[in-house]
Amino acid sequence: MLYSAIMIIGIDLGGTKIAGVLTTPSGKVLMDVQIPTEANKGKKHVIDNIKKAIHTLKESKKVKLKAIGIGAPGPILYEKGIVVEAPNLPGWHNVNLKRILEKAFRVPVFVDNDANCAALAEAWFGAGKFAKHFIYITVSTGIGGGIIIDKKLYRGITGSAGEFGHMTIDPQGPRCNCGSNGHLEALASGTAIKRVTGLDAIGAHLAAHQGDKAARAALKDAAHYLAIGLANLTNIFNPELIIVGGGLSNMWQDLIVPAKKEFRRYSLTLPAKSVRIVRAKLKSNAGMLGAAALCL
Ligand code: BGC
Repeated sequence: MLYSAIMIIGIDLGGTKIAGVLTTPSGKVLMDVQIPTEANKGKKHVIDNIKKAIHTLKESKKVKLKAIGIGAPGPILYEKGIVVEAPNLPGWHNVNLKRILEKAFRVPVFVDNDANCAALAEAWFGAGKFAKHFIYITVSTGIGGGIIIDKKLYRGITGSAGEFGHMTIDPQGPRCNCGSNGHLEALASGTAIKRVTGLDAIGAHLAAHQGDKAARAALKDAAHYLAIGLANLTNIFNPELIIVGGGLSNMWQDLIVPAKKEFRRYSLTLPAKSVRIVRAKLKSNAGMLGAAALCL
C-alpha cells in the first residue's frame, strides 16, 4: 500500500464515550471520531469499541500509523500501560491495554490517565500555556484531575496523583463507583446527577431549563459540592489557575458559575484571592489531544 503520511492516534476513553483523533506528529488534526463506550456491556466489548474507533481513524486516510496514545479513566501504571482500575468501567482491573492494543495494531501504544492527558494538553496548547502552577479538573461521568507544578505533571509515587473525584466530601454520602462513600464524584459528576434524576447530564440540563424541579435541584446540589471541591484544591495547592474541563463544563453557566460564586465560602482568603477558575480552552478535545501527544 502506498502511504501518504505518518500519523498518530489519540483516544480519550471515557465512561460514556470514546473520542479519538488522527493527527500529524505536529498536532494537525485530520479526523476525529466519537462512539459510545457501552461500559455496561463489559470489558471485552469496550476494548472492541476502542479497536473500532482506532480502525475508523486509521482507515479514514491512507496513513502509516506510527503510534497510539490512550487516556483512560482511572489510576494507570503508565510505564507498563496497565489500567489498574476504572471506577466507571465495570470489570476493569489490571487491564494491560498497552499489550492488547500493541498486539492488535503492531505500533507502540502509550497509556496514561485521561485527566493527566487533558492537563498536559491544556499546559501545552490550552488555557494553562502561560501558567506555572495549575490544577486541571475534569467533570464528566467521573471526576478526575491533573496537577501541574513548575510546568510539569506531578504524578505521585505510583502515578495516581490528582484523583480529585475521590476526595471525601461527606462520609455519610452516597456510594461512589469506586466502592467508597461521599466522594466528590458521587456528589457532583454526571453519574451523581443521573443517580438523582434518572437522566444523563445533558438530559438533566435540558429538563432543568424546561422547569423540572428535581433536575434544577440536582444541578444546584452538584454545584454546591463542586464549590467545596474547588475550595479544597485552592487551599491545598494555592494554584494560579484551576482549569475546568470535561463534558459537564459545557454547563458553564448553570453548574460552574454557581460553584465559582460559592467556593470562597470554604477557602482561605489568600489562595482564594489569587486563583482564577477558567474553562478548558480545548474543551472536550483536551483528553484526546493530550493522549495523541503522549506519543511524541
Ligand atoms: C477516575 C479518574 C478519571 C475520572 C474522569 C474517575 O472515576 O478515578 O481517574 O480521571 O473518573 O474520567
